[in-house]
Amino acid sequence: MGDISVGILGTGKYVPERKLTNQDLERMVDTNDNWIVTMTGIRERRIADAAQASSDLAYEASLRALASAGLTAEDIDLIIVATITPDMFFPSTACLLQDRLGAKRAAAFDLSAACSGFIYGLATATSFVKTGMYRRILVVGAETLSRITDYTDRNTCILFGDGAGAVVVGEVPEGRGFKSFELGADGSGGDLLRICGGGSRLPSTEESVASKKHFLEMNGRDVFKFAVRVMGTAAEEALAKAGLAKSDIDLLIPHQANIRIIQSALERLELSADKAMVNIDRYGNMSAASIPVALAEAVEEGRVKEGDAVVLVGFGGGLTWGASVLVW
Ligand code: ACO
Repeated sequence: MGDISVGILGTGKYVPERKLTNQDLERMVDTNDNWIVTMTGIRERRIADAAQASSDLAYEASLRALASAGLTAEDIDLIIVATITPDMFFPSTACLLQDRLGAKRAAAFDLSAACSGFIYGLATATSFVKTGMYRRILVVGAETLSRITDYTDRNTCILFGDGAGAVVVGEVPEGRGFKSFELGADGSGGDLLRICGGGSRLPSTEESVASKKHFLEMNGRDVFKFAVRVMGTAAEEALAKAGLAKSDIDLLIPHQANIRIIQSALERLELSADKAMVNIDRYGNMSAASIPVALAEAVEEGRVKEGDAVVLVGFGGGLTWGASVLVW
């Protein structure tokens, strides 16, 4: 991939303080802690304050990523925010974040690829740096999924949480950085995971609100099957493009949607459980924020060392998927 080596200069995360536990959910819908833990691996999630929107979570994560990169907002040339829960239709959450950070030199746009959005964003940022168009790019995954979750629907409300993760992408020493990307989409499966209401197809009306068209809807069983298949194939493709073998993987950072999906990816990649970064028990599924939050925690916990081969892999609505091999 290109001449210069492009990688991650700094990482940051932010999760809201308020926790929603399985015990809390037991009081809201017909569910129980044992079912949720066994079927998903989730014990609690974070929920944003009423006054917090996605750009607020993105702002906190971005400040930390900039500090960890030793940069200021004015060093940033482009901001990409991956989100399915933007503050509003427009301006983009990236523009709101640009203003808040004072990143005056930066261009800014949002990217919509659901839970794969952060990996799509990394691939986009890496390409811009390789072409020489931009030097330092802030890539953020930020979600307030609690705002699009129907807390009377036990099939979905147990899964999701709020949070944000951010990285700065730029040139790194030769031999390190992103070695490959594998991105994909299958729009024919778009109806498995979506929000239908509020767009140009079904504008907001009293009826669209009454029929709950503004909440996330999901065919969990089919998404599960798709996820199990695609997590393995996407990671294998990214490894092949990077010229690495499964046994070269030092750390797997998977999208945190379901512990059973993560376990199946581990089996497919012939990795032991300690090779995966897992925080789903504490945060649930934060869509585009899951991978960057897990990456920031892996860095905080000292789980990635210089030269380690890290594989990022995710899937989500669209349907979409993405994987990348990153040498730390
Ligand atoms: N509590 C207790 N019981 C429940 C609950 C619950 N919250 N939800 C469902 N059940 C019951 C069902 O009613 C069903 O009972 P039955 O057998 O008597 O009919 C049984 O549990 C099994 O239900 P299924 O829905 O078939 O369970 P499944 O094995 O599919 O697991 C789950 C559900 C955990 C949601 C799984 O399908 C899954 O993780 N799918 C992937 C979801 C995902 O990754 N989504 C990504 C979204 S990311 C994004 O883009 C925002």
